[in-house]
Amino acid sequence: MPFLPTSILVTGGAGFIGSNFIHSFIAGNPGCRVSNLDCLTYAGNLKNLTALEGNPDYHFIKGDIGDATLVGKVLAGQRVDAVVHFAAESHVDRSITGPEIFVRTNVLGTQILLEESRKHWLSGAVADFRFLQISTDEVYGSLGDTGYFTEETPLAANSPYSASKAGADLLVRAYHETFGMPTLNTRCSNNYGPYHFPEKLIPLLIHNIINKKPLPVYGDGLNIRDWLHVRDHAVAIETVLKKAKPGSVYNIGGNNEWKNIDIVNLVCDLLDDRLGRARGENRSLTAFVKDRPGHDRRYAIDASRLKADLDWSPAYTFEQGIAETIDWYLANQEWVAEVTSGAYREYYQGQYGGGAV
Ligand code: NAD
Ligand code: DAU
Repeated sequence: MPFLPTSILVTGGAGFIGSNFIHSFIAGNPGCRVSNLDCLTYAGNLKNLTALEGNPDYHFIKGDIGDATLVGKVLAGQRVDAVVHFAAESHVDRSITGPEIFVRTNVLGTQILLEESRKHWLSGAVADFRFLQISTDEVYGSLGDTGYFTEETPLAANSPYSASKAGADLLVRAYHETFGMPTLNTRCSNNYGPYHFPEKLIPLLIHNIINKKPLPVYGDGLNIRDWLHVRDHAVAIETVLKKAKPGSVYNIGGNNEWKNIDIVNLVCDLLDDRLGRARGENRSLTAFVKDRPGHDRRYAIDASRLKADLDWSPAYTFEQGIAETIDWYLANQEWVAEVTSGAYREYYQGQYGGGAV
């Protein structure tokens, strides 16, 4: 029997993956309440969700996952029967220059959310309950030229970001093992698609190419990432939430490995065509720069458990997904301009007047 939630709490739903998940989930689950708890850091952008304004299934709450009182109030008040936990500091480079907030949000924030969820689950206010931790392949560390991360690969995080995600994953495991709480844990590879903040590689490339700015490639450009369209990730999360056995862990990925320099060249060439520039003009913007410290060499996900157990596989080909993503950025230059200028941060005040709920 699938688990069919009636009221979910999404944390970090104003970010890249969280907002894509909310759009996808609301479209497929009419009548299920979706409460979005987000404290709107630099990465939180309510403009990602304007299409849902006035939708009776959707509800935004400005707040921090580390605020136990608020979290407890939302869980009880909305009779939440599933928490889908995206909220995090997510950028590896920022974790190198300032690790503390990563531990505060990703580790401590997750523990507070888990503890309030445990109390709520034990209160018997809802018939059934799930806590789904959204995590990353980065918790497994780095691969050599061959092999894949499976769910059995030992955690060997290398950056402060991935260490904080691994810490959170272990707390989620502990709440299942120690308290019997019905937790789930997914670990996905690199996402791309609409609403991706332009500090990350693919949207940064698109933005810089359009503006004829240098394209910074770390190190030798031969590091490998395994790319998945964000909407495929959203569907995989919903599948795990509804169909997975409590206590399980699932890798999510599309078997789509690319060297960074090949991604750079591909995006350059696709934009040459779209911007009417001569072939090779955009590639000339490429600038090799100092490597990221501790830069993981290769990620590659084995998602066969998810396919075998829950029958999920990606719908997008990379060719289609990357073309659509580039076209989305070209068609949404206002979104990009507001993000890069910082104007998107004023939207919350105008829309919600700074008040909660
Ligand atoms: P993001 O940085 O775009 O969004 C994070 C969101 O969390 C923002 O809206 C931010 O305001 C919110 N947030 C941060 N701290 C908070 C707090 N204390 N309380 C409430 N809200 C808070 O991140 P993303 O790329 O959408 O990633 C979402 C999740 O998915 C993260 O947990 C990340 O580790 C994981 N993940 C990301 C990728 C990827 O490729 N981006 C891949 C695998 C897993
Ligand atoms: O693998 C999943 C992870 O993917 C998520 O958990 C993280 O939240 C997400 O940010 C992403 O991490 P990466 O570090 O892989 O993503 P990023 O876009 O920062 O970098 C992708 C690759 O491109 C990486 O090898 C570093 C390189 N890079 C990145 C930037 C921003 C460059 O060469 N130049 C750049 O300017």
